[in-house]
Amino acid sequence: MTTPSHPHTQTIAIISQKGGAGKTTLAIHLAAAATRVGRISLLIDTDPQASASQWAEWRQGTPPEVIDSAPPRIPAKIAAAAAQGAELIVIDTPPHADLAASKAAECADLVLIPCRPSAFDLAAMRTTIRLVELLARPAFVVFTAGPPHAPHIYADARDLVTGFGGQTCPIILPDRAAYRHAVAAGQTVFELDPGGKAASEFEQLHMWGCEQLHMSTFAHERKSA
Ligand SMILES: Nc1ncnc2c1ncn2[C@@H]1O[C@H](COP(=O)(O)OP(=O)(O)OP(=O)(O)O)[C@@H](O)[C@H]1O
Ligand SMILES: [Mg+2]
Repeated sequence: MTTPSHPHTQTIAIISQKGGAGKTTLAIHLAAAATRVGRISLLIDTDPQASASQWAEWRQGTPPEVIDSAPPRIPAKIAAAAAQGAELIVIDTPPHADLAASKAAECADLVLIPCRPSAFDLAAMRTTIRLVELLARPAFVVFTAGPPHAPHIYADARDLVTGFGGQTCPIILPDRAAYRHAVAAGQTVFELDPGGKAASEFEQLHMWGCEQLHMSTFAHERKSA
């Protein structure tokens, strides 16, 4: 395996056994948020549905770059990207796929598990938490697409995750139409509605993710570091 030439490459795996949990939306926006602060970021799409790759095609070369990978090739693709200077690598994975999820998680510095705060989704998320526990990777559940103004729903969902032995991300990404509109137009919420709530929530999520990875949160900090 190639030795990464960039000592600061960090990898985030987005996994969830449940379909439609918000994996691709999270992966696209995390990679884009890193690009916005001047980082070289890469999205590795391991999903045969190729949603992230389709989105990249609509963007016609506008960063972040998206490449595809079969699960066994993930470590080699990460090493190659690191050797070319990638600073943040985000891996999008398919639903119902233990191999892709475990390969991605194995290679990750941080695992994020998007989950809608509904009973069925929360029950299914338990399987994903067990998987990352086995791999001993730092992992957090990120609540997605729930009602924006229902704190008790998230409080209950947090209790459930904690009861499963999992951890939750303090930033919630509630249901915002901006995600659907942006992704369908080959954009991000930062491009579609930069002053909007979705963009602001995602900026917070990105900053929180950087803190977890001990990365600085702003480009100017990195340049003067
Ligand atoms: N926070 C959100 N607010 C509103 N809509 C959302 C949010 N997150 C995701 N969605 C929408 O939910 C749908 C599923 O999202 P997405 O494709 O990201 O899920 P996924 O987990 O990647 O799905 P799959 O398991 O099929 O790969 C999409 O239409 C997306 O726009
Ligand atoms: Mg997807």
